[in-house]
Amino acid sequence: MLVMQGVCKSFGATQALSEVSFSVSPGEVVALIGENGAGKSTLMKLLSGAHLPDDGSMQLAGRPYRPMGPNDARRQGIAMIYQELNLAKDLSVEDNLMLGREKHRWGWVSRKEQRKKVVEILELIGHPDLSPTRLVGQLSIGAQQLVEIARALLSDAKVMIFDEPTSSLPKKDVDRLFAIIDRLRQQGIAIVYISHFLEEIRRIASRFVVLRDGQVVGGGPMESTSDPEIVTMMAGRSVENQFPKVPHSIGVPVLRTQRLTGRVPSDVSLELRKGEIFGLFGLVGAGRTETLRQIFGLDKTLFGTVELADERLRSTPRHCLRAGLGLVSEDRKTEGLAQNLSIADNLTLSDLSPVSRFGVLHLSKRTRVVREWMQRMSVKARSSEQSIGELSGGNQQKVAIARVLHQNAEVLLLDEPTRGIDVRTKADIYQWIGELAATGKSILFVSSYLPELVAVCDTIGVMAKGRLREVRAADAWTEQDILSVAVSNE
Ligand SMILES: Nc1ncnc2c1ncn2[C@@H]1O[C@H](COP(=O)(O)OP(=O)(O)OP(=O)(O)O)[C@@H](O)[C@H]1O
Ligand SMILES: [Mg+2]
Repeated sequence: MLVMQGVCKSFGATQALSEVSFSVSPGEVVALIGENGAGKSTLMKLLSGAHLPDDGSMQLAGRPYRPMGPNDARRQGIAMIYQELNLAKDLSVEDNLMLGREKHRWGWVSRKEQRKKVVEILELIGHPDLSPTRLVGQLSIGAQQLVEIARALLSDAKVMIFDEPTSSLPKKDVDRLFAIIDRLRQQGIAIVYISHFLEEIRRIASRFVVLRDGQVVGGGPMESTSDPEIVTMMAGRSVENQFPKVPHSIGVPVLRTQRLTGRVPSDVSLELRKGEIFGLFGLVGAGRTETLRQIFGLDKTLFGTVELADERLRSTPRHCLRAGLGLVSEDRKTEGLAQNLSIADNLTLSDLSPVSRFGVLHLSKRTRVVREWMQRMSVKARSSEQSIGELSGGNQQKVAIARVLHQNAEVLLLDEPTRGIDVRTKADIYQWIGELAATGKSILFVSSYLPELVAVCDTIGVMAKGRLREVRAADAWTEQDILSVAVSNE
């Protein structure tokens, strides 16, 4: 269905892709994998018409393919399902499906016929919340993603590309998504699936292709290749321990919330001790992010208190920063990082007194500090002055983490810190978290990825419907227990 040959793409001095060849057949699901910054998204953006290749050729259904732009690519049958959704939240499902569609295709179609087609496609997708008149803004993220897929189906897509589609989906929606992908495959659509989760890739793909530093370094059938073999291809060396542990000891309570209640979390009382890694698990919407936001003073507290080292925290982010709290927020695009600012600016944004710490005289010091962080976190970028928006997704996340580390906070609130991060760097992040705990920092770690919570945390609390349901030492939980508390309704 699709063949790319000797494709090259540079951004200024960065060679993002060199001589890449890639293909996918009708009815095949190919996993495109590789570390952060390897070139996966860029390769797919050449297909979707977001970028033009510098060199190389592409063929779609046996004919030369050279999209003039995203609309042209869509017309020719390429559909891209991005992680960041592209929908108009105030419009209905049907209006979203019809958005941007050319007049001549639907112009003569009556509203009734249009509705029939829409209903047909929504039935194929089979999500109970998806009706033509429903406002998209009222749907869960999982259901919104299905609207994007419905849109692709409506335009008779030949190739569908999923770029890290599941990183913000609850398990139930992941299962549904996979069932749909399987149906699309059976209909002869060619599918490219990008993800950092090998367990997912195994469920859905039959073949994989590994990119490293903009080149294809391996590939083959999923069946006959083991996880360590794939990880070695991605990293260029073997990754011994996926969940490294750093010995650390737990001290006195540092952060305490009492009956903390806001718009979402209700009655959350928890205690975080010195040197403790406290995991917060829950399904999407359970109130974990909101709890962190409350603690950090970003959302209004209706009731309850937060104490840091026995002193009541005033609930403003500025005060929290000063008091030694650091937050890595889940949504790095809209509230985590300033997309137009440089890596250096983003990293040092929270320096409380920029003039005294990094005034003009200290510019060289700042540059040195920033370089050190970039090296420590292996941030892949041209220079510390490159703007954040140009980095690959995972590398943006690394900068967000480096920022709170640089801020030297005593208590770190980490909201899904490994989302979009490759296997090797995930292991690095667990190592850092362990080292932080060993130096007496306390970490509140929100994650939807159970294996990491169970492996890394000392204590795990499970939230459901805005409440903290149960807290136990990590080794007193099984994954099954955690899940069953997370879905509890009482
Ligand atoms: N618009 C751009 N301007 C400059 N450099 C870019 C741009 N887009 C991508 N790059 C660079 O190209 C390289 C490949 O990035 P890409 O986003 O394709 O990586 P990726 O494999 O998708 O990584 P991730 O797993 O982190 O999403 C990176 O070094 C990145 O900084
Ligand atoms: Mg990417």
